[in-house]
Amino acid sequence: MTTNFIPAQRVASMQSSSTLAVLQKAENLRRAGYEVYDLGAGEPDFNTPNNIKLAAHKAIDENFTRYTPAAGTVEIKRAIIDYIAANTGANYNPQQVVVSAGGKQTIFNAIVTLINPGDDVLIPAPYWVTFPEIVTFAGANSVIIDTESNGFQLTAEMVEAHLTPKSRLLILNSPSNPSGRVVDPKEFERIAEVVVKNNLWLLSDECYYQFTYQPHKPFSAASLRDELRARTLVSGSLSKTYAMTGWRLGYALGPQDWIAEMVKVQSHSTSNPASISQKAAIEALSGSQESLKEMLYEYRRRRDYLIPALNQIEGIECVEPEGAFYAFPNVKKVLDSNSKIKSSADLADYLLEEAHIALTAGSAFGTEGYLRISYATSMEILQRAIDKMTEAIVKLVKG
Ligand SMILES: Cc1ncc(COP(=O)(O)O)c(C=O)c1O
Repeated sequence: MTTNFIPAQRVASMQSSSTLAVLQKAENLRRAGYEVYDLGAGEPDFNTPNNIKLAAHKAIDENFTRYTPAAGTVEIKRAIIDYIAANTGANYNPQQVVVSAGGKQTIFNAIVTLINPGDDVLIPAPYWVTFPEIVTFAGANSVIIDTESNGFQLTAEMVEAHLTPKSRLLILNSPSNPSGRVVDPKEFERIAEVVVKNNLWLLSDECYYQFTYQPHKPFSAASLRDELRARTLVSGSLSKTYAMTGWRLGYALGPQDWIAEMVKVQSHSTSNPASISQKAAIEALSGSQESLKEMLYEYRRRRDYLIPALNQIEGIECVEPEGAFYAFPNVKKVLDSNSKIKSSADLADYLLEEAHIALTAGSAFGTEGYLRISYATSMEILQRAIDKMTEAIVKLVKG
């Protein structure tokens, strides 16, 4: 039935999430009875740890089921402040914290409260798909900084080279989804210096902060010196860190005035994040961190299997990710060596149809010639997927 519904312009120009599109295609295959190797989801395969679940049960039993302050309870703000202080040494006060329904809401609120139509927002590519879409929603322009020539490492010089008179915000995501790159602390500081010198603001999306593999060290913008921190918003999430994607719990710490505007928007849209999730998050942040260590160990073990295995496949070259749980292999030689499949999107489709492997094309993240493979899945599935992928690519290249 046609309804003649015409969406608002700022929404019409947004694209649907391409990572969710992969999940949908994989689901269709599954429903048709096929086994699908899902390397597409940016979601831990672990269950939420028991101590966290128990805290949620207790919250329900104690009827902690009502509205809370829109920005989150005093207790959860305290837990976040203490967690950040323990990890970075930084001090924040409760007016500098807002708790939201996931990191996505935090980032949405951060962008729409800062950015005016016509502003320029600097985004290094490859980027998390949602960043430019929120910028579009805000009526602003994404200025993409291509980092491929430097092995996906952003530098202060690259930021400087992309500044325009309308630049207002730089979005950093380290460790990066999808490249797995971690910005070196010294470079991070130089980048923040460019931001402050040019009166920009910095949004540091740190949802993979804890997933940084030795010898690389997690670095949070919260550790920047005060004059740099004054123009920086740190965005965090419990989704990946504590395998809590469905609980929807994220937070931001930053300049009090920016936070106040984010709270205003949130109070008129979703109000507080779920009261029960807040109680669970307090336990996650301040209780035992054993499960986090176990998950990090397991991700590293999978990465250490996956990267050499990918490099064994003819035409695929993959550098070792330093953080997060994604590999981002270069597949340009595969694309060049056959006459049928010419783009990363076609290759992703081919692998889904031919080998039932769900993964995401690099073009979805603004960088053509790559694939994103999530290793937040069991070792067994990874191994079987690699076998299938090897067969499918040999067939493509030889056929
Ligand atoms: C880079 C990045 N930022 C933020 C998020 C938001 O996650 P959530 O809204 O579950 O906290 C994600 C999730 O995939 C992500 O990959």
